[in-house]
Amino acid sequence: MTVDLSVSLGDVSFKNPVFVASGTFGYGTESNDLVDVSQLGAIVTKSITKHPREGNPPPRIVETPSGMINSIGLANIGVDKYIEKMIPVYEKIGTHVITNIAGFSIDDYLHVLEKLESSGGNVCGYEINVSCPNVDTGRMEFSVDPKSTRELTKALRSATKKLLILKLSPNVTDIGEIAAAAVEGGADALSAINTLFGMSIDPATRRPNINTNIGGLSGPSIRPVGIASVYKISKAVDVPVIGIGGITSVKDVIEYLLAGASAVQVGTANFRDAAIATRIINDLGTYCEENDIATICDLIGKVESYD
Ligand SMILES: Cc1cc2nc3c(=O)[nH]c(=O)nc-3n(C[C@H](O)[C@H](O)[C@H](O)COP(=O)(O)O)c2cc1C
Repeated sequence: MTVDLSVSLGDVSFKNPVFVASGTFGYGTESNDLVDVSQLGAIVTKSITKHPREGNPPPRIVETPSGMINSIGLANIGVDKYIEKMIPVYEKIGTHVITNIAGFSIDDYLHVLEKLESSGGNVCGYEINVSCPNVDTGRMEFSVDPKSTRELTKALRSATKKLLILKLSPNVTDIGEIAAAAVEGGADALSAINTLFGMSIDPATRRPNINTNIGGLSGPSIRPVGIASVYKISKAVDVPVIGIGGITSVKDVIEYLLAGASAVQVGTANFRDAAIATRIINDLGTYCEENDIATICDLIGKVESYD
C-alpha cells in the first residue's frame, strides 16, 4: 500500500508532516553526519535576530524529570551572517527550510524579514517567535497581547507573500484569542507551543539551576499542554496548526494530528538523538500501512471528542 504522507501549509506542500523545532536543530546542517536531513518534512532554524547575539551566560540548560529548562537567550549569528553563510547552503539541503525570526520591536522583525526577502534563496517561509519582550510596550511579550500579535502579523504580512507562521506561547490565559488575532493579521498558519515557564533550584547551594532563574520548560512533560493548545486553536481558527511540545514517538505525532495539527515539530528529543525525527517519519509510514490509512491528512482533527 502506498501511503501519502504529504501535507500543505498555505501554498507550500511538504513531503511529510514531521519537522524539527526551532533552537533544537541549529541551522539545520550541524547534524549532517548523523542524519539525512533531506528526509525531514522541514527544518525550522533557530531564531534569527537583527544583530548577532551571544545569548545568556551559562548555566543555561538544566535537565528536569521529563524534559529540560533552557534560557539560551536567542544566541544566533544575526541576519547578515545568516544570509551570507546559511542561505546558499539551503539550495542543496533537499527539504524545505523555514526561517524562525525573533525581535524586540515590530521594526526588528520587519528588518530581518525584509533582508531575507531580498536575499532570495531556498527558504519557503517564516516562523515568527512572538515569545519576546516588546520594548515599545513596556517589555510585555508580543505573545500575551492580541493587539501586539495582530499588529506584528499585519506588518510582516504586508512584507511577504511567503508562508507566514506565528509561533504561539502557552503562557497565556486564552491561546484561542491570540490565535484569532494572528489570523486577523494575516497568518497562514500557527505553531504551538513554545516553552512554558519553568524553574528548578539546587537545594545544596540554594541557587536556581539556570542563570536567568526562570527559563523555558520543554520535553515530554509539556506534551499534554501542547496537545490541548492545538485542540483549542483548531477550534478557534480556520488555518493549519503545527503541533509542538514533547514529541518523542509516532504515537505522539498521531495524538497531535488527531487534536487538529496538520504538521508537528520535534524539539527537545533531538538533543538525545539527532536522528529521532527521521525515525518517527519511517514509523509514521509503517503506522499508516498497518492501520489502512492511505493519506495522512485523513487523521487531522479526527479526535472523537466528548461533545
Ligand atoms: C534549547 C532550546 C532552544 C530553543 N530555542 C528556540 C528559539 O530560538 N526559537 C523558538 O521559537 N523556539 C525555541 N525553542 C522552543 C522549541 O522550538 C519548542 O517550541 C519547545 O521546546 C517545545 O517543544 P519540545 O518539547 O519538543 O522541545 C527552544 C527550545 C529549546 C529546548
